[in-house]
Amino acid sequence: MLVLFRKTPILGALLAQVVALPVVAVVTAPLSTSVERLPLIMIALVLQGALAALICALLRLPRWWLLIAFLFPLAMGSALLLGNLPAWPFGIAFLVLALVFSNTTRGRVPLYLTNPETASVLNDLMRDRKAVRMLDLGCGLGGVVRALDGEGRRARGVENAPAVYLAARLLSLISGKGEIRRGDLWKTDVSQEDLVYAFLSPAPMTVLWQKLSREMKPGSLFVSNSFPVPDVDPDEIWELSDSRKTRLFLYPIGKPEEG
Ligand SMILES: C[S@@+](CC[C@H](N)C(=O)[O-])C[C@H]1O[C@@H](n2cnc3c(N)ncnc32)[C@H](O)[C@@H]1O
Repeated sequence: MLVLFRKTPILGALLAQVVALPVVAVVTAPLSTSVERLPLIMIALVLQGALAALICALLRLPRWWLLIAFLFPLAMGSALLLGNLPAWPFGIAFLVLALVFSNTTRGRVPLYLTNPETASVLNDLMRDRKAVRMLDLGCGLGGVVRALDGEGRRARGVENAPAVYLAARLLSLISGKGEIRRGDLWKTDVSQEDLVYAFLSPAPMTVLWQKLSREMKPGSLFVSNSFPVPDVDPDEIWELSDSRKTRLFLYPIGKPEEG
């Protein structure tokens, strides 16, 4: 069960709120005669958040879920207390979040972007290796793809979040650079690429490496931004001097260590 919650933390967070609700109701009920309505609601919301966060901790969810669990009831309560807010901004916000982040609950890879300094280093790397084809697995808005396409090189990206894919596709069409495909990185053919790039999260790295080391051609290169493959020594680690101190982990394909 714990494994399920670690794989799909949103289920654990939901369970935490559901379990906390009756407990908070029982604890706060006796206060209803002695405490004013507004302070009582605030006490209940804080208790609900704290208890839900505690349950998330017991379920061993990542730390940011504890914060989400704590803040969620307060945010909901505040919205309700503010009363006559129109419903449509919430609907639109929900739609936008769903279109951008709907894949995050399953894949646990949110959207954040490679900075131009890193893209420029990748460009030099491709040029030095005389690499012709590159693929960005989970290309986000396609910034890396557009930066690396051209000068006889072909850069492609695959992205599965609907709104993010559409934005990347549009930017690629406008700039005339790169090729963006909507799809699942796990089902993407990597066998023809000289360089595969990924900036994902720690969660998929082991399984991703199993796919890449099996499917990429000998002599090609896998570059992971920030997240190393557990238990596999990279050939090189490049520490960049950009503001976020990006680290690139380089894994050549076809070296003996890959077994
Ligand atoms: C951290 S962002 C990196 C974006 C881009 N590669 C960059 O470096 O600017 C990771 C992206 O991977 C996408 N993603 C996550 N799981 C995916 C999957 N299974 N297939 C395709 N894209 C995926 C996310 O939607 C997100 O846009």
